[in-house]
Amino acid sequence: MLVPLTLAVGLLATRVKANEPTPDYTKHVNLFIGTEGPVPGTAFSAGNVFPGASLPFGAVKVGIDTTRWNVSFSANAGYTPDGNVTAITMLHESGTGGAPTYGLIPQMPLTTLEGVNLLDNLTYMQPRVVEDIATVGYYKTQLSNGVTAEMSASHHAGIMRYHYPNDSERFVLVDLSHFIPSTGKKEQWYSNGLIERSEDGDWYSGYGVYREGWAWGGEYRVYFCGHFDTKPLKTQFFSGKATDPYWPNTTDVRHSFTDATTLQGGTVGYQYADRIGSLFEFPPNTTTVTSKVGISWVSADKACQFIEEIPAWDLEATIQAARDQWNTEVLSKIDIKTENQTQLEMFYTGLYHSHLLPSDRTGENPNWISDEPYYDDFYTIWDTFRCLHALTTLILPNRVIGIVRALIDIWRFERFMPDGRSHNTNGRVQGGSNADNVLADAYVKGLQGGINWTDAYRAMKTNAELQPYNNFDFEDPTGSTKEGRGGLQDWKQYGYVTPNRGRSLSKTTEYSHNDFSLAQVAKGEAPNDVGLYLNRSRGWQKTWNNNVTSLNFTGFLAPTYANGSILSYDPLSCGACDWTSYSYEGVPWEYSFSFPFDMKTLISLMGGQETFESRLDTMFIPGLTRSNQGGNSAGTTIFNPGNEPSFMTPFLYNYLPQKQYKSVQRSREVVNQYYNNGRSGIPGNDDAGAMSSWLVWNMIGLYPVVTQPVYLILSPWFEEVKLKLGDEGSFLRITASGLDKGPYIQSLKVNGREWTQSWLSHNDLVGVDGEGALLEFEMGADAALWDTGDIPPSPGALNK
Ligand SMILES: *[C@@H]1O[C@H](CO)[C@@H](O)[C@H](O)[C@H]1NC(C)=O
Ligand SMILES: *[C@@H]1O[C@H](CO)[C@@H](O)[C@H](O)[C@H]1NC(C)=O
Ligand SMILES: *[C@@H]1O[C@H](CO)[C@@H](O)[C@H](O)[C@H]1NC(C)=O
Ligand SMILES: *[C@@H]1O[C@H](CO)[C@@H](O)[C@H](O)[C@H]1NC(C)=O
Ligand SMILES: *[C@@H]1O[C@H](CO)[C@@H](O)[C@H](O)[C@H]1NC(C)=O
Ligand SMILES: *[C@@H]1O[C@H](CO)[C@@H](O)[C@H](O)[C@H]1NC(C)=O
Ligand SMILES: *[C@@H]1O[C@H](CO)[C@@H](O)[C@H](O)[C@H]1NC(C)=O
Ligand SMILES: *[C@@H]1O[C@H](CO)[C@@H](O)[C@H](O)[C@H]1NC(C)=O
Ligand SMILES: *[C@@H]1O[C@H](CO)[C@@H](O)[C@H](O)[C@H]1NC(C)=O
Ligand SMILES: *[C@@H]1O[C@H](CO)[C@@H](O)[C@H](O)[C@H]1NC(C)=O
Ligand SMILES: *[C@@H]1O[C@H](CO)[C@@H](O)[C@H](O)[C@H]1NC(C)=O
Ligand SMILES: *[C@@H]1O[C@H](CO)[C@@H](O)[C@H](O)[C@H]1NC(C)=O
Repeated sequence: MLVPLTLAVGLLATRVKANEPTPDYTKHVNLFIGTEGPVPGTAFSAGNVFPGASLPFGAVKVGIDTTRWNVSFSANAGYTPDGNVTAITMLHESGTGGAPTYGLIPQMPLTTLEGVNLLDNLTYMQPRVVEDIATVGYYKTQLSNGVTAEMSASHHAGIMRYHYPNDSERFVLVDLSHFIPSTGKKEQWYSNGLIERSEDGDWYSGYGVYREGWAWGGEYRVYFCGHFDTKPLKTQFFSGKATDPYWPNTTDVRHSFTDATTLQGGTVGYQYADRIGSLFEFPPNTTTVTSKVGISWVSADKACQFIEEIPAWDLEATIQAARDQWNTEVLSKIDIKTENQTQLEMFYTGLYHSHLLPSDRTGENPNWISDEPYYDDFYTIWDTFRCLHALTTLILPNRVIGIVRALIDIWRFERFMPDGRSHNTNGRVQGGSNADNVLADAYVKGLQGGINWTDAYRAMKTNAELQPYNNFDFEDPTGSTKEGRGGLQDWKQYGYVTPNRGRSLSKTTEYSHNDFSLAQVAKGEAPNDVGLYLNRSRGWQKTWNNNVTSLNFTGFLAPTYANGSILSYDPLSCGACDWTSYSYEGVPWEYSFSFPFDMKTLISLMGGQETFESRLDTMFIPGLTRSNQGGNSAGTTIFNPGNEPSFMTPFLYNYLPQKQYKSVQRSREVVNQYYNNGRSGIPGNDDAGAMSSWLVWNMIGLYPVVTQPVYLILSPWFEEVKLKLGDEGSFLRITASGLDKGPYIQSLKVNGREWTQSWLSHNDLVGVDGEGALLEFEMGADAALWDTGDIPPSPGALNK
């Protein structure tokens, strides 16, 4: 594509000068968006986002853990609005459902030991007396015992400042056996630990050993190193019997103190070792105690070195450094022009949430030595492949390169890439092997930067060809849930997954997309494989059943046995929608729309454009849903804004001639109804930022068709969006005039040319040589039938 000269000059003119100060975008980030559910003041059914202190992709995430009585995928990031504080801990996830992970390496400031059993958090937990305060890189909570706790984070270390009341005693409790509990399913446990201290007691270090949690897996060690700015008056280690899972009555178990300066829970490797910890007491003339805690997955020495990331005892400098990092690395990458504070908050908070996970643990992999980047806490790719990584690809391509290289390295050493992974353990594959889709999306967008695409393709091929061993997950023992494709043997034999295995219908949907991803990468890396994987990507069509009718529409994905007969089912239901159900967290109505790589065949199977359109309309008719998935669903339409399977459905009108306006209508409706800048402003678990990234795309006015270098056009919310493309200094600029009249596109120019397609290619957005692009929208109140050009491609179709 030739860029007109005037435009090229314009683009150059917008290149940032090196030493212009970055504006402070962090002031638009509201860390409490997504921390509450529909019932104000509670976390039931919340976004579960982490409101504490972290850097982008931070290896530590410093925040409070609280009690919770009503757990329905709630508070997996430690925080609940109504619970009592039991600790400040260093490791958290953000936005996750399932069951909690982490809440590890605690400190808890106490003012008295009266009535306190150090092994029973219910005897020392603290209600909060005023609303917590959170800004980027900073968190503050005021406890009913009079202590104010403030905290911030560097990449591998946290800093806490405790302000004690004058007339109280001053303690910091470290209970190594603390973790975020859950109610039964997939609970994590404390196994063992070791703690040592300096003579003065102002340094302590060691490790805790924990096991299971949502990803399952064996034991893992987290090393820590803590330092206080004040010499404690007294430091005492303590221990007590392990209370979980065999000692449920905590009132029977009390701590006993020891004078030892090294304390071990039990023999190395013993799972039911004693709980251990330390109690630090500070002198009466101190009102403020500051502490730093470094975390390492490799050694306590490294944990101690990480403390040096935080200069002196300077909380304020640490906060400022965190803000600067968020501004320069992430938030400044998309500059939007609007006066609307609500929308500014929604947008920048969405951008923030999209870059908390996975955790960058480069150099911190305890299991193998490698020069490759290392990322952990994929929670999960099932959620994030759909549009999150594609957002990062535009603004932080080097991060995506690092993430892709880390996924490949995990394959090199563990034989499979993860779909879910925490604490260095692959675990919890909900559907397909969706790392395939992340790799394919990076591939079609030309990411290089040291990605070994030969190995990348081999890693994908492992998913497509190698049956993973069955880990006999009690929630679904019919195939591996650890990694790879648990239903692969069916897939290869029949071309689809049979109902003899859990989640057959949704696995069939996702494996189809996964094999399309293989075909995409094979085009460059193994041309002889293209036909094979394109054929397999059509597996879903083998289960398309024209005998099934629902709400007067005919033809649905059906759970199909090897002999071709189908399980009796209702396309509006997925039963428990769980691991052994025939469809996972989405009903067949939803999954039946999930073939973005072959919309052409789908539209034809559904009966042609007109029927497709009215069927799509039906997805958005209030009151039609018959599936209540608790915290995983929102609203009453079959389209479920509260979970990922329906993410792309509102925009499928772009695949019909001159119906793009309906995608705009849906996009606005869904965002306006379900997203806002309030605490319950995310309609379901944020899922490591997946929902937040979906919101950001909607507000930019584009939606990526991942695994293809294609973006659907929606309509921008802002007069101007300036998106900085990587580190090249070029921009994607999107302007919209007439926004005050309405959201519908009247006309569009792309790099000065009149545009009539409802989609753009990746090169259209970033420029053939990465020089950027300019999209100029003219908006209006009424739908204009501007989209007369070719509909988006269907590269998976047999006859394209
Ligand atoms: C949890 O809270 C939600 C919302 O208030 C409520 O609907 C549900 O019944 C509660 N569950 C339990 C077990 O208390
Ligand atoms: C919090 O603590 C208060 C006072 O001790 C208690 O009444 C309340 O039940 C606790 N709530 C939770 C959720 O732990
Ligand atoms: C606190 O105590 C309760 C009751 O013994 C227990 O269920 C929970 O796991 C403990 N830990 C935390 C961090 O809440
Ligand atoms: C606590 O002590 C400090 C220093 O002695 C003093 O400045 C402050 O006013 C006291 N605060 C209260 C609430 O008594
Ligand atoms: C827990 O222990 C206390 C003290 O021994 C006893 O009174 C109580 O009945 C026990 N509770 C349970 C549930 O076993
Ligand atoms: C507290 O007292 C100790 C011992 O008397 C002294 O070394 C220290 O400087 C005092 N700290 C403060 C903050 O006054
Ligand atoms: C600002 O944005 C919010 C959310 O989109 C919207 O509800 C509100 O009407 C807007 N305010 C103005 C003045 O346009
Ligand atoms: C990619 O990795 C393979 C080993 O699997 C190696 O043979 C090859 O040289 C690597 N390619 C590049 C470009 O580094
Ligand atoms: C793909 O399927 C077509 C039609 O079913 C068949 O002719 C072709 O041989 C298949 N290709 C491969 C590589 O399996
Ligand atoms: C549809 O029903 C007819 C008549 O019962 C049967 O012959 C046919 O095999 C069914 N087709 C599918 C795809 O199930
Ligand atoms: C299905 O068609 C019947 C007969 O035309 C009609 O009465 C009914 O309302 C339709 N149902 C829906 C959900 O559109
Ligand atoms: C097909 O297989 C299923 C599952 O094994 C069985 O229930 C069903 O009766 C079979 N149908 C026919 C027509 O054989």
